[in-house]
Amino acid sequence: MSLTDPIQAVRGMNDVLPADIALWQSIETVARELLEAYGYTEIRVPIVEHTELFQRAIGEHTDVVEKEMYTFVDQGGESLTLRPEGTAGILRAVIGNGMLRGQRHKLWSAGPMFRHEKPQKGRFRQFHQIDVEAIGFAGPDVDAELIALTARLWRRLGVERVTLQLNSLGTAESRRAYRARLADYFRKHHSHLDADSRRRLEGNPLRILDSKNPEMQELVAGAPLLTEHLDPESRVHFEALRAALDSMGVAYRVNPRLVRGLDYYSRTVFEWASDALGSQDAVLGGGRYDGLIGQLGGEATAAMGFALGVERTVELLRQAARPPDLRGPHVYVIVSGERAAAAGLRVVESLRDALPQLRIELGLGGGNFKAQFRRADRSGAQLALVLADDELGRGAAALKPLRQDTGQSECPLAELPQRILAALAVQ
Ligand code: HAM
Repeated sequence: MSLTDPIQAVRGMNDVLPADIALWQSIETVARELLEAYGYTEIRVPIVEHTELFQRAIGEHTDVVEKEMYTFVDQGGESLTLRPEGTAGILRAVIGNGMLRGQRHKLWSAGPMFRHEKPQKGRFRQFHQIDVEAIGFAGPDVDAELIALTARLWRRLGVERVTLQLNSLGTAESRRAYRARLADYFRKHHSHLDADSRRRLEGNPLRILDSKNPEMQELVAGAPLLTEHLDPESRVHFEALRAALDSMGVAYRVNPRLVRGLDYYSRTVFEWASDALGSQDAVLGGGRYDGLIGQLGGEATAAMGFALGVERTVELLRQAARPPDLRGPHVYVIVSGERAAAAGLRVVESLRDALPQLRIELGLGGGNFKAQFRRADRSGAQLALVLADDELGRGAAALKPLRQDTGQSECPLAELPQRILAALAVQ
């Protein structure tokens, strides 16, 4: 390479260019608003941690720790690692800052993660997560609420091609018993194991279930199922979670082979995947990790969380039938007629007083009704508020949801704030 050759970006690490920034920001904004609405607060932690943190938290026999970490020795001789995921650092911060002491925390964090994986479509070496952790909650109510939150997130983002898989890994003890049974099974078929699986057999045979090798699939399909070896309490927990999801109308499939790639999980694990993403189809994953805080030196505390992959979510939004302009207004106000034009500013200003949390855009400059509706639609607004002379004469206006097939309804002006909030809440 000559001294004047342009310097390339590091393989697997991408720029986010201005053309894409609106999609990124809309995901960040929608997620932040939703998490705040559910009572989560942001925490920011360093990108670099002691290597030992990840070895202890994620597990020695995981792909991440075995071969994907960006680890280096700094000038002071310390082994440091660029974080491959967010949970370990957040827990380190919660323990180290004395935040536990029987207290509960609902936290979220966003930022880049680093894994030295083979780059391909949807798989990068620097990627971004939005990470959510509920610490000090034994569930299953928190499991159900977190999963419902993720389902709502897809609805808000207008992402439709995603499905939810669910499993329970039981407690550490029941998993140990299952692990022994699984190891027996795979030992019996030792000659059919590939090199990776042989290595995993002694360290963590559960990871063999995660094998992507087509030649291993038959053997994996015949392996004993974890769900059949759950301890009674984990079974009750799982059934309560399923009942709660059913009652909220959150659809899922129980996948008894869902084990996830990190070792810290117990009981509930879940993953959202999309057939629109190709082979790297997981867009969001998480679960309960009741033993991890104790393992990292904190007082034993139950906890549950998940992380969303931002790049894969951006890809889903790009493919959405109508990519929503998520930074658009909540309400677009259409005025029709002379009286309405005169009243428009006043009505909209008083709505802005009553609903300071909403983005309300007034269709300035008027124009014919059809053109204004087209502008309302293009703005990305959820709801159109129509101020027309006739209705105003009766002290009323009309509301029309723009992203649903429900019709227009009349509403007294005095009730507009409540009715607007109610209409937005069902979206
Ligand atoms: P994870 O399943 O390893 O979980 O990652 C979560 C999400 O990050 C994945 O579903 C995927 O969308 C995205 N992701 C992972 N690796 C890559 C990559 N190389 N390129 C692009 N996107 C990627 C965790 O990291 C856990 N810490 C989640 C959690 C939080 N569990 C409990 N609390």
